[in-house]
Amino acid sequence: MGQAETIDARVPPVAVWQVLAKLRGQDLIDWRLAEPAQRPSPDERDLPSEFPFGWYPILLSNELEAGVVKPLRYFAQELAIWRGMDGAVRMVDAYCKHLGAHMGHGGQVDGNELRCPFHAWRYDGEAGVVTDVPYAKRIPPQVKRKCIRTWHVVEANRWIWMWYHPHDLPPQWEVLEHPECADPDWTEFEIHEWNVWGSLQNMAENGVDFAHFKYIHGTATFPEAELEFHELGRKAVIRAKMGTPMGEVDGQIAFDTRGPGQSWTRFTGISETLLVACLVPVERDHVHARFCFTQPKAQAEGPMGGLARAMIRDICKQFDQDKVVWDRQKFEANPIICDGDGPIPRFRQNYAKFYASEAPA
Ligand code: FES
Ligand SMILES: [Fe+2]
Repeated sequence: MGQAETIDARVPPVAVWQVLAKLRGQDLIDWRLAEPAQRPSPDERDLPSEFPFGWYPILLSNELEAGVVKPLRYFAQELAIWRGMDGAVRMVDAYCKHLGAHMGHGGQVDGNELRCPFHAWRYDGEAGVVTDVPYAKRIPPQVKRKCIRTWHVVEANRWIWMWYHPHDLPPQWEVLEHPECADPDWTEFEIHEWNVWGSLQNMAENGVDFAHFKYIHGTATFPEAELEFHELGRKAVIRAKMGTPMGEVDGQIAFDTRGPGQSWTRFTGISETLLVACLVPVERDHVHARFCFTQPKAQAEGPMGGLARAMIRDICKQFDQDKVVWDRQKFEANPIICDGDGPIPRFRQNYAKFYASEAPA
């Protein structure tokens, strides 16, 4: 089966290949999601004790219809998210202030508000107040004023985004819209999903870790990268020779970020692809990851479609290769760096501003 095998067969086989080689089809999908039977605690691995603040894509827009409420768990918190009959999305902390029912399970959307499943108290998801207690003569004053945490949510790039800040500060920037996501000439997302048993920061550092591309991913040469740090993260243009059935091709990978929760990559060379990388922390040692790919329809459905699909498979394979490391990696606060490494200390300095405890007041 020629093509995919050939395009994957880089030289020499990468070290993690022995872990991945036998995983095929459903076994590979199961491996991507499964929780390891045993793993050291986040403390033992020195994983960050707080989550970096920013906008994070938590649910696809088409996963939430009007009138539907869903439970979510991100940032080690239980959440209830719903779409009102007006089409707008709201999200609050999941636990009801009355007797602690989880409103994401069995709650009911009433107009634009949410009714708790237990005793039908009704919450306004914007003001964070109770607007109705159907069996009481009066609403307790403590819940007539703001009593529950409400979360900022917006929709962009076919996703619902939440603003996470541990101290509930308001959004400090906006989600960047990608024109491809609104362009009917680009395909629906092709989505691949992983649970990574590690920290978001270790995953983010991967992009500036130039040396790993050869050893973990088997790129034919060390990629040539132009990396730039900016106010909201980092961007890079990486040029690398990519092995293909037609020989080596000059590929280009351009990635950029807006805070720790929005990152995207445009691939050109083998085929034109936008990857919207949706990574959201669930726990200190658990990140829920979805890679969403879109390509020009003309390309995906045309004679080069096979090559485009092979490229997506290859990008996912790179994620699999990194995952072998991420799932067990500790955070090495004082790494020993050599001259061939990418700008890892610079990355960490830039990333630290998204931790509320380190950010300037
Ligand atoms: S616990 Fe929610 S209304 Fe009683
Ligand atoms: Fe990588």
